[in-house]
Amino acid sequence: MKSEQPVSATATIGILGAGRVGTAVARQALKAGYRVKLATSKPADEIELLVDIVVSGADAAEAAEAMSADLVVVAVPLHKYRTLHPAQLAGKTVIDVMNYWPAIDGQIDEFADDPRGSSEIIADFLADSLVVKSLNHIGYHELEEDGRPSGAADRRALALAGDHGGAKSVVAGFIDRLGYDTFDAGPLAAGRAFGPGTEIFNGRHSVAQMATLFAGASLAA
Ligand SMILES: NC(=O)c1ccc[n+]([C@@H]2O[C@H](COP(=O)([O-])OP(=O)(O)OC[C@H]3O[C@@H](n4cnc5c(N)ncnc54)[C@H](OP(=O)(O)O)[C@@H]3O)[C@@H](O)[C@H]2O)c1
Repeated sequence: MKSEQPVSATATIGILGAGRVGTAVARQALKAGYRVKLATSKPADEIELLVDIVVSGADAAEAAEAMSADLVVVAVPLHKYRTLHPAQLAGKTVIDVMNYWPAIDGQIDEFADDPRGSSEIIADFLADSLVVKSLNHIGYHELEEDGRPSGAADRRALALAGDHGGAKSVVAGFIDRLGYDTFDAGPLAAGRAFGPGTEIFNGRHSVAQMATLFAGASLAA
């Protein structure tokens, strides 16, 4: 059964993927006071040194341990999504940060030939998870630089989309603690409006600017 439990400020965040995005999210989450379990497809002891150096304070974990966290961030290359474990992610709120970006990923027929956004395809695969698309339209190098306290005049907004309201609230709370406002774009399908190639993907925006851009996107749809 899918649950939508709130994630407290002291919760544990599991991150699948210790690459550019996974480690940046991990450092920002640690700063925000979360406990972080970081995993790759390799055994935990093989990434311990990397995690110690790159994300000091996070736990190098087995993927199963990371997936048992209160909130799980999936930051693996899109073409590897079938190596994820749907059964172990069942019932979890999952942030999908992945993009289908042919300029970077090359052509992936499954995504190129499907009119849906990549997160809708991921949500089909993780059928029993509460998938929320977010954190996909901020560069890994920006994530730690652009964060601001709540209420700051120049606070950047990040869009989120998902089909489960409770899960979106959980993710919005997490992103707020990372230093960003959030803009609820609507159901998971609305994530298409902030994928690669869109104006939202290509810039920094406040909540008000994002609202205007989304209004334009839905008029154009
Ligand atoms: N780069 C950016 O600024 C940016 C920003 C927003 C979103 N994104 C999206 O985020 C995703 C990740 O990008 P990235 O640049 O961080 O990739 P990356 O640097 O290549 O890192 C990918 C990580 O995923 C791990 N991995 C692969 N399969 C896994 C599995 N089944 N379970 C756990 N970990 C696994 C890899 O380690 P092993 O292979 O050793 O397992 C590696 O640590 C992409 O879809 C990208 O489009 C990127």
